[in-house]
Amino acid sequence: MSKDYYLVLSAKYRNNMGENTLIELKGLTKRYGYGDTESFALKDFDLTIKRGEFIMIMGPSGCGKTTLLNIIGLLDRATSGEYILNGEDVAGISARRQAKLRAKKIGFIFQNFNLIEDLPILENVALPLVYTGYSKTARLKNASNALKRFHLQEREYYFPYQLSGGQQQRVAIARAIVGDPEIILADEPTGNLDSRSSHIVMEELKAIHEEGNTIIMVTHNPALTVYATRVINMLDGHIDTDVKTVADANLPQPISVKIKKRQKPETKIELPKEEEKKKTKKHKKSRRKK
Ligand SMILES: Nc1ncnc2c1ncn2[C@@H]1O[C@H](COP(=O)(O)OP(=O)(O)OP(=O)(O)O)[C@@H](O)[C@H]1O
Ligand SMILES: [Mg+2]
Repeated sequence: MSKDYYLVLSAKYRNNMGENTLIELKGLTKRYGYGDTESFALKDFDLTIKRGEFIMIMGPSGCGKTTLLNIIGLLDRATSGEYILNGEDVAGISARRQAKLRAKKIGFIFQNFNLIEDLPILENVALPLVYTGYSKTARLKNASNALKRFHLQEREYYFPYQLSGGQQQRVAIARAIVGDPEIILADEPTGNLDSRSSHIVMEELKAIHEEGNTIIMVTHNPALTVYATRVINMLDGHIDTDVKTVADANLPQPISVKIKKRQKPETKIELPKEEEKKKTKKHKKSRRKK
């Protein structure tokens, strides 16, 4: 695409540019240790992220990818620098407020799925809603709807160990989107999957992106960058290369939410059949014994 085309686009959409900025990181530094042991996971890091981007972050082990994702996800704090989320400086806000914002706006997907082994997958998916004020029934109803989207509704009362890696990661994606967050952060989500399951997971992420969500994903697999609208290569805590493959003006716009908010369940939630209940209790007991 020619430079002129970008200039025309930027003139056309100049008024929207500010509105479309979701995240701004300015001079972000993450330091570990002091004196002789001092090291920097991120150094003077600047990045602006627009709504609807699908960013893939690549780079050698130890270059700061997970550190960056954890800071964006409000799981970790930078040592210095600014983090502006939706126009609000969130770097210095209290841990309590960070947790609230995280629950409302951010969904996480991890390499090792991070599901709770002792909970059926329905309850795993419902977990992020605990902080949002939904009733338990509404939480389970929403979780059930999210699982339906990934064709896992038949397995609501299975435990994570009863599922394949690919299915577990789809449960984890359902958990990431159940609260209808604006930002999905994924740290090597296909790192533990075979190529077929990786493909299925990437197609799900693609669909979530096309609904207008912003995705920031770390990967070591260059083949997956075909899904990205922007590829950032990091090196020693800074950006080495940053390539946009889709112009900002062509990014997907948010469409209606996937799961209705705060809905009251119209139908009573289906509880496990008696045998399943017994099985669940038995399973819990046998796990406790171990
Ligand atoms: N708690 C910690 N204490 C000290 N150093 C740390 C800590 N956490 C991370 N680091 C260092 O920060 C740097 C960046 O780590 P990070 O986990 O972000 O790398 P990464 O790019 O995600 O690597 P990988 O591809 O292996 O996952 C590394 O040099 C690491 O050793
Ligand atoms: Mg990492």
